[in-house]
This record gives sequence, structure tokens and C-alpha cells, in this order.
Amino acid sequence: MQRGTNGSLRLAAALVLLAAGTSSVGCTKETTPTTGTTTPTTPTTPTSTTYNELWIPPTITGTTFNLTLGKSSKQFRSGAATNTYGYNGANFWGPTLIMNKGDSVQMNVVNNLSDSTTTHWHGFHIAPQMDGGPHQMIAPGATWSPAFVVRNNAATYWYHPHLHEKTYEQLTMGAGGLIIIRDPAEAALSLPRTYGSDDIPLVFSSRRFLTSNQFSKNIAVDVYGDYMLTNGTLQAQVTLPKQNVRIRMLNAEIERALNIGFSDNRTFSVITNDGGLLDAPVPVTRVLLLPGERVEIVANLSGDAVGTSLDLKAYNAGQSFGFPGGEGSPVTPTGNAGPAFGSLLNNTTFNLLHINVGAATPTAVASIPATLANNRYWTTADVTNSRTISITGGQAGGAFQFDNKVFSHTVINQTVKLNAVEKWTITNNNIFGHSIHLHDVQFKIISRSSGAVAPYESGWKDTFYIPLGASVVVIAKFEDFASTANAYMFHCHFSNHEDEGLMGQFLVVP
Ligand code: C2O
Ligand code: CU
Repeated sequence: MQRGTNGSLRLAAALVLLAAGTSSVGCTKETTPTTGTTTPTTPTTPTSTTYNELWIPPTITGTTFNLTLGKSSKQFRSGAATNTYGYNGANFWGPTLIMNKGDSVQMNVVNNLSDSTTTHWHGFHIAPQMDGGPHQMIAPGATWSPAFVVRNNAATYWYHPHLHEKTYEQLTMGAGGLIIIRDPAEAALSLPRTYGSDDIPLVFSSRRFLTSNQFSKNIAVDVYGDYMLTNGTLQAQVTLPKQNVRIRMLNAEIERALNIGFSDNRTFSVITNDGGLLDAPVPVTRVLLLPGERVEIVANLSGDAVGTSLDLKAYNAGQSFGFPGGEGSPVTPTGNAGPAFGSLLNNTTFNLLHINVGAATPTAVASIPATLANNRYWTTADVTNSRTISITGGQAGGAFQFDNKVFSHTVINQTVKLNAVEKWTITNNNIFGHSIHLHDVQFKIISRSSGAVAPYESGWKDTFYIPLGASVVVIAKFEDFASTANAYMFHCHFSNHEDEGLMGQFLVVP
């Protein structure tokens, strides 16, 4: 029922900007009509110096992973608690699953919601029946028990609901969790890996609250939250030891991109992409992370004095139109009467985590290796087939689509031969940027029409940013799993766009 609304509002926002003769979204003061369906939010300043301790999700290790998704609630603000979803009793989000490459794992997911769900193992190279996409529905009260061998490299992955037209809602309610895969190659390296001590998981997602304190979740307009939740914690702070610290970051936002860096502009090292270690640490001061993407970084706090503090921030102010989360202005929206797609955080620089520097631990890693891996990436010389997929639609009255086809369960959009090495060119010529995710494979980004592929995204990827007006070329090998009946998904990882139809199915056939 929401289909098309987002696209048309987006177009309206774009036209407002064009009419204003500016590509900067910060100065527009135009407003769009309210939808009339949402209780106004309580406008308060999004910044304060009162911090809450960062929640570190508990871990589950071994080869059997039992997850139960259920309703919960969390006290985010004074007054009423907020209704949420969580796995295994968490009041938002879920436990971190730690798996070893090569293990055969048994997953058991119990659905205690009153609605169906699915559980997708994002980034995993597994058979389509085990993937947890829209096809592997778990009815209320039912248990889904896929089993598979963990084939992916050591890195940070995640699980989340993927039921068509429910992904946005269930993610917004808090359903999701991290997966850490370990392998011998990564274990042999001198890297921080004490979970919760010098190896910190960070999941970023923001929410808008109604005056009732419930999450505002109108898919047509609530695509950017007003308040950042880091691991489900508002105004999060953590004490980190005065040493090299590994930070595993997931952008679990609905639509907002995060241009991440430290408040003192210090250089840090990117060590992994979505699907494994980079060949070498990549020094940066900013890393752009789109919804669905993960990156592990190492920040060196050894030169910081105990008792000092710094902030991890999203430098999202001043981006050009098409940057997800640049729309609207930072003026306080009341309900949805603010600028189209506005939010308190849009087009601003805001805190992700306040870091207090504490004493070093006895196991501090003094320096990280100059070489991390020796990846053999696919190149154009390996390619056996090429295809081009265009992002279309988004104009007034229409949802975003791939190749003018809104997602349908009964349509197979692409068919790939098992063992093909394929070059996929995704083009995006209208309206807005997106975050594109392919199931089944880890790929290599070969080129971007908008400029060079950044060294920090030069590794194995399963999700990538496609800016407005750009095309991106990736190469993947589709190996090991084939089926003429069970499809994998490719889609925009903005769950509102995905639910509205910017998703397709591909078969890998023998
Ligand atoms: Cu993270 Cu198809 O999803
Ligand atoms: Cu999108």
C-alpha cells in the first residue's frame, strides 16, 4: 500500500531542490504536507552530554545456534517504554553469533512474533534454501532449522528479517544481530580480538519516536531516525583501553549513509570489508558505510591519556543531493511536517559513540601487521558473462525498481550458470543513491563511474553504495550452489526501497 509514495516524495524533494537552484540540501526550508497519520514527535535536541553505557550484545559460540525472535520493550526515554523486538530476550537487537569457518552449523530460529518472519544470514555463501530470504518464511510459533557449512572468510556478518514488505517494520522494531566468523588465517595475525574489550561491535541505527515513545514507522516518511542508537543505546559511551582497538561496524540504518570518522580527525586502519580481510590495512580518516555494509577498523588509542575522551562521529553535514541522509534540514521536524525526509540528524555531523580512554589491558596488541591477506580477486580477464541492471522508477507514482520491474515472487529476474564468473554493471540514473546487495556471493568492485574505487572498499564485498547518476561494476563467481527452483535475492538494502519493490531474484542453475 505504500508502494510509490516514497518515490514520488523523493521526486518532490528533488524538484524542490532543483527549484531552489541548489545542490546543497541544507538550506532548503520548504516543507511538504503532513501525511496526517503520525502523531507528532517530541522535538528535543539530539545532542546532550548525558551518556548511556554502550550495550555489548552477548555471544553464542559453538555449532548449534538457537535464536528466538520475540516482542520486548526498552526504556529509551522518560515515560512509557518503547515496544521493540529482540532475539533471545534482548530488549533490542540480538546476540552476536561466533562461528568458525569450516564448521557445520545447525541454526534453530523460533518465531515468537504474532507475524511471520524470516532470518537471513547476510553475506553468507550458502544454498538458497538455507539463505533465509523472503522464501524461507517462519510462521508465528514455528521453528526454522537450516544447517550449512560456514564457508566465508573471517569477518563481520549479520542476521536480520527479510520477509517481503515486512523487512522495514521488523528491522525498525529492532530485529537483527551480528555474526563474527573466525578462521585460522585471521587467527594467526596479531590483531585485537577480545570481544567486548579490545574488539568492539558497533551497530548503528536511528529511530524517530512518537509522543507515545513508540518508534514511528511509517515507511513512506520515517526512513531517517532523529536519534542514533548505537547497539540500541541512545547517547552511547564506552571506555576503551589505551591500545590498538578493533571496532566492527555495521550500518543497520534503514536508509542513512554514515561518513564515519573520529572527532580529532585521527587516522585509523580499515582491515576488513564485508567478506574478509583486506590485503593490507588501509589508513583513512573517513569511511563511508551504507546500510548493510560492514567494516572492521583498528584505532590506535595507545597515545591517548587515560581519562581523556574522543568521539566517533558521522560527518554527514554538507553532502550533495543523493547522499542518503542529506535531505531536509536539521531544523526540528514536528511529526512529518518538516522538510521531505528530514530528520534531526539529516545533513548534520552527529555522535555515534563517546569514547573514554581507560587503562591498557595486559593483552594489548602493540602494532598490527602490514600484510593481512593475499586475496585472489576476480578480474575482467576471468569474466565469462556480463549483464547490466538498471535502477529505474522512483518518479511520481512509482516505486524504485530494477529494469522497470517491481519485485514479484513469481518473476526470476536473472539466471546465472553455475561456475560463471560474471560482471554485473548496475546503473543508477535517477532520483537518488542506493545501497545494493547481492546474496550468495562476495564480489570485487571493479570500477565506479563516479571515480576511483576507494582503497578501503577494495576487498570482498556483498553490499556497495551506488551514488545518484553513477554506475558500478562488480565481478563475482557463482559457485558451489545451484538450483532451478530456489532463488537468491539482489536488492537495495534500504529496507523501505526493498519492501517497495527494489528487489529481484536470481537463479544459479546447473
Ligand atoms: Cu541484509 Cu537481502 O539482505
Ligand atoms: Cu534504494
